[in-house]
Amino acid sequence: MEPNRTLPRVAADGPLDATVTGLLADRVELLPWEATDGAMGAVDGLYTYGHPTVDAAMLDRLPGLRVVSNYGVGVDHIDVAAASARGIPVGNTPGVLDGATADMGFALLLASARRLVEGDRYARSAAFTRYDPGYMLGREVHGSTLGIVGMGRIGEKIARRALGFDMTVLYHNRRRRPDIEQTLGIAYAGFDELLAASDFVVLCVPLTETTRGLINAARLNRMKPSAVLVNIARGPVVVTDDLLDALRSGTIAAAGLDVTDPEPLPRDHPLLGLENVVISPHLGSATDRTRLRMAEGSVANLMAGLAGRPLPCPVAAPPPGPE
Ligand code: DGY
Repeated sequence: MEPNRTLPRVAADGPLDATVTGLLADRVELLPWEATDGAMGAVDGLYTYGHPTVDAAMLDRLPGLRVVSNYGVGVDHIDVAAASARGIPVGNTPGVLDGATADMGFALLLASARRLVEGDRYARSAAFTRYDPGYMLGREVHGSTLGIVGMGRIGEKIARRALGFDMTVLYHNRRRRPDIEQTLGIAYAGFDELLAASDFVVLCVPLTETTRGLINAARLNRMKPSAVLVNIARGPVVVTDDLLDALRSGTIAAAGLDVTDPEPLPRDHPLLGLENVVISPHLGSATDRTRLRMAEGSVANLMAGLAGRPLPCPVAAPPPGPE
């Protein structure tokens, strides 16, 4: 740090929430994200909220950079390999948001299966005049088969919730998890096998070059016409146009999406006009308690990196190969 500077300078992708600002008060000098263009002088740290992009060119513009801290677990916007190659640690906040995100995945699963949002709209409308045993029939969740794509911490929490609903659980993952198979009594399946056998498919994978476009027309065609797809991962894991076609043509029955590609969808996007889609605005970890822990974890990573200490939660550069 230059001798006349007392506080480290952190460029933040604002506006920051009040908890983060409070935790950082008098500890760092906050700069606007535009400081990453290199024109405002030294930047010691970067603080992001799941975007914008931190790439090799930006890292090269900021020679004094000591840490990149992300509020959240997904770091697909950060070139972690480039940061590692330059000796800059990247931190994220895994662990603290798994339960909230799994809850959200299950909320979307239930809402899509039981047509909850559509039903809410109907109940508020003049069309609802009396109970009718024939309307708005949905899909049963209990006793059905759930396929979880990506058996990390969030996938495991989804599995635990599904077992409480008496579901049969299949999972697909880059590496098999005999530990979880044993403790939870769930079964590993090949990707195609999982798609064909599942009544519900929940996506819990990080966005990488391998998972980008993972769910495309060919994969959707392998699913049951009665199946529901739930995406709590990242929008680009699903090819939006292919999903739109599948939902319109009855290739699959419904989708619950916490994330989309693009995000947000343009107001006139045809997906927004479909009754068989429930869309939430990236709410996976959006609870008071979880957001507090994310703020604390991301600030702890930031301050550790600025002080040259190991980060409490460092991100390792992703290994090559399929998820
Ligand atoms: C995460 O933690 O990655 C959530 O999606 C919030 O960005």
